[in-house]
Amino acid sequence: MSAPKKLFVKTYGCQMNVYDSERMVGALGASGYEQTQDASEADMILLNTCHIREKAAEKVYSELGRLRPLKDAKPDLKIGVAGCVAQAEGEEIIRRQPMVDLVVGPQAYHRLPAMEAKVRAGQTALDTDFPEEDKFDHLPAPRGPKASRAPTAFLTVQEGCDKFCAFCVVPYTRGAEVSRPAARLLAEARDLVERGVAELTLLGQNVNGYHGAGPAELGGGDWTLARLVRELAKIDGLQRIRYTTSHPNDMTDDLIAAHGEIDKLMPYLHLPVQSGSDRILAGMNRRHTAEEYLRLIERIRDARPDIAMSGDFIVGFPGETEEDFADTIALCEQVRYGSAFSFKYSPRPGTPAAGRDFVGDDVASDRLARLQAVITDHQRSFQNAQVGKRMSVLVEKVGREAGQMIGKTPWLHAAHLDAPEQVRGKLVEVEIIGSNTNSLSARAI
Ligand code: 5AD
Ligand code: SF4
Repeated sequence: MSAPKKLFVKTYGCQMNVYDSERMVGALGASGYEQTQDASEADMILLNTCHIREKAAEKVYSELGRLRPLKDAKPDLKIGVAGCVAQAEGEEIIRRQPMVDLVVGPQAYHRLPAMEAKVRAGQTALDTDFPEEDKFDHLPAPRGPKASRAPTAFLTVQEGCDKFCAFCVVPYTRGAEVSRPAARLLAEARDLVERGVAELTLLGQNVNGYHGAGPAELGGGDWTLARLVRELAKIDGLQRIRYTTSHPNDMTDDLIAAHGEIDKLMPYLHLPVQSGSDRILAGMNRRHTAEEYLRLIERIRDARPDIAMSGDFIVGFPGETEEDFADTIALCEQVRYGSAFSFKYSPRPGTPAAGRDFVGDDVASDRLARLQAVITDHQRSFQNAQVGKRMSVLVEKVGREAGQMIGKTPWLHAAHLDAPEQVRGKLVEVEIIGSNTNSLSARAI
């Protein structure tokens, strides 16, 4: 047998890309590749790119420039670009960087082994087509035989988006919304749990719009995310379930109820609103008002009073006035997010908002700083409020100091505690005894 070839994957962007990178490693495992963390020893380098915000394509071209010396030193090295920049730029990547051997969009990863064979034979391979078949069917499981896993894992349950928010490239790069059949998700989840996974995060660009086919033996029909979560919660050994990212308009009654009824469903919900101004929300094609969003959060909190809300904001969207921005701050003050992410608007080529007048970088930067100050303040007080509480921590890894382990609380705070290494992958009951810059200190009880 020949020695395995080495594959180096660099992942940018969202959690779905992290999941996809694992899948690509799995797919190329069948072609004799083994993953390496060291680009200089790689036989193939894949950049799994993200196109969601600023200068994404330019960043990929500069990264490719940095890889040039490696390729010069080792002409056999194959370089590929995957992900949403690959989808958006396509052939242009090979035109601008002829050293690139392979360009593959997120819809075509199941065809990677054939593409790899083509580039090994000295040709370039480009595939940004949308599949006619179910791409998940053709991807081998990303894990080696019965290899054990980290205690937390992602599981993609749906992909793509039909919402067409005016600023967003996702409907173009990830395509139309597709939900995976529940039977396969349940099987994949059971397999992950057998390998030691205790916490699953269900992924989708519009995850709460999930509507995959239910297993025939459980009645068939189209399942909702709530139904899927209820069924997953029955898996022994699976301790925690999360899901991300959701759209407010798909937050159905049964999903809200699930938050109150299913202990394994963690009290943390990422529910982006993007803006607090109805005028801007309309311009963004979000199809809800600020008031509707606030009322929705009230209902979610009625079902699960201790839930932490998380969100995304865009500042400086075309047409945003100081008054619109004040509405965003006001919404933020009302919700008091446990954590939130905020971004300066960046025009994405091909999206409806791209041609509209930008407020200017100075205005956007100033608003971003002001919004982030409010968010940081809320995040800090929420984190500090954990001190003195008792809760469970899912221990994920060893800490930097001797005898220290690190895990996550139900509210996604990192917590460190003194504990033996054997508790890795286990839930430990703790009391929170301190709040630091980026983590909590905990004591096992
Ligand atoms: N400009 C700035 N932020 C964006 N996002 C998506 N598209 C853009 C854009 N063109 C943000 C949104 C989304 C998050 C994943 O990225 O807030 O929820
Ligand atoms: Fe993009 Fe999310 Fe809007 Fe879909 S719902 S278009 S992924 S921002």
